[in-house]
Amino acid sequence: MSDVKVVFVINGKEVTASMSEYESVLEAALKAKIGPPYSCLEGVCGSCSAVLEDGEVDSIEGRVNTESRDRTFKTCMAQPKSKFLRVNYDKANT
Ligand code: FES
Repeated sequence: MSDVKVVFVINGKEVTASMSEYESVLEAALKAKIGPPYSCLEGVCGSCSAVLEDGEVDSIEGRVNTESRDRTFKTCMAQPKSKFLRVNYDKANT
């Protein structure tokens, strides 16, 4: 099932992809072949972090606070909780 639309922003480019609500944001980024940063795949290192510019995700760290200014999250640990996500890697790595 690919019922979530996701826009990735990485290296100044935008890539639109579809993903399942049951896969992680990082898995979707890998399938979209955008070359996302990652290392441990266990929510430890933080190298997969991105900023959630639109939409909602859930993670083992709890829901990303949509009221917070800092919407950085670990993509390897996050699954979509809305039908649209906008995930910006560039903002997390500056
Ligand atoms: S890859 Fe290490 S925290 Fe996601």
